Amino acid sequence: MDVSLPRLKQNLAIIRSHVHPAKVMVVLKANAYGHGVDGVAPYLAPLSDYIGVAIVEEGVQLRELGIRVPILVMGAILAEQLPSLISHGLTLAATSMAVLEAAEATAREAGARLKVHLKIDTGMERVGVHEYDAEAFLEESLRCDHLEIEGIFSHFANSDAADLSHARLQIARFERVLTLYERWGIPTPPLRHMANSGAILQLPESHFDMVRPGLMLYGIYPGREVRRAVEVWPALTWYSRVAQSKTTLAGRPVSYGSTWRPELDSRILTIPCGYGDGYFRRMTNQAQVMIRGRKYPQVGRICMDQFMVNAAEDEIPEGEQVVLLGRAPSGEEITAEDLAQWAGTNEYEVCTNISARVPRMFTM
Ligand SMILES: Cc1ncc(COP(=O)(O)O)c(C=O)c1O
Repeated sequence: MDVSLPRLKQNLAIIRSHVHPAKVMVVLKANAYGHGVDGVAPYLAPLSDYIGVAIVEEGVQLRELGIRVPILVMGAILAEQLPSLISHGLTLAATSMAVLEAAEATAREAGARLKVHLKIDTGMERVGVHEYDAEAFLEESLRCDHLEIEGIFSHFANSDAADLSHARLQIARFERVLTLYERWGIPTPPLRHMANSGAILQLPESHFDMVRPGLMLYGIYPGREVRRAVEVWPALTWYSRVAQSKTTLAGRPVSYGSTWRPELDSRILTIPCGYGDGYFRRMTNQAQVMIRGRKYPQVGRICMDQFMVNAAEDEIPEGEQVVLLGRAPSGEEITAEDLAQWAGTNEYEVCTNISARVPRMFTM
């Protein structure tokens, strides 16, 4: 597959100007949403204020790629991972009082100063300290001499929905937590952040000091309901080639389980890609591909390493390029939304599911 680096840069610039003066944390977790972190990260890092990853190992991988930009490990970690976090200069998301205390103790022992963002759970019910328990958590953070409390953040459960009432409730809860600092007469931590793609698009009041775009950075909108307040462009084109092209006689069933058979003698193409590459088996007999800018139906059960396409009467030779996801020069397109719909999943899973077996080519 091809990943257009200039597209990513363009999307980042569009997001940046939309949220100005807020900073931008570029979210590179899950192999840069499947796009290939080793190609994407060195290119985007110099353009990023912060980088967001989910787990410590992803942060370590970025440091080993030579990236020096601040990196927040956004997920919950185990206390035993703190030394690695400190030695790699990663920023901790303090998701509980216990983690905060363990971080202070570990930093003190190491003679280090650890950057911390306090995670407040305002309604996702995933990680973080509930907003109604935040007072003691924030007070404790003020007593931690070996921690630099650089940020405070929360995460939306429904910012991409048409109904934004729950998202707005989350913002109100977050703002209520921030007023504690005002009550104490001290400034809030300098980086307050909350907005993922849905909120960047739909909730300007949630942009605070920094935003955290993931999916939209890659040019994909989070769902069909979301208001497309800015235009971003997909960076990824996933393609394969016809490995075999032959005639299947009328009535002869194609692939495992014999779920489809042609009514007439038909040109059936075998594509060397399957669910082992991340081409969902659930898309069987629903997906389409593009060849020479024209769409053809996928037929018969999708296998681990191959699937078949019905080219009917068209003579398509072996070696011809087949677009699985992306845009043809003719303007015809197969989108992540299309694949998500065929597979009964979302756009996030479509791109993060493209497996390591698919080579990533980064175009400049
Ligand atoms: C804490 C956090 N922030 C930001 C993001 C980016 O979200 P999105 O891809 O919807 O922009 C994610 C991804 O799920 C996340 O977990």
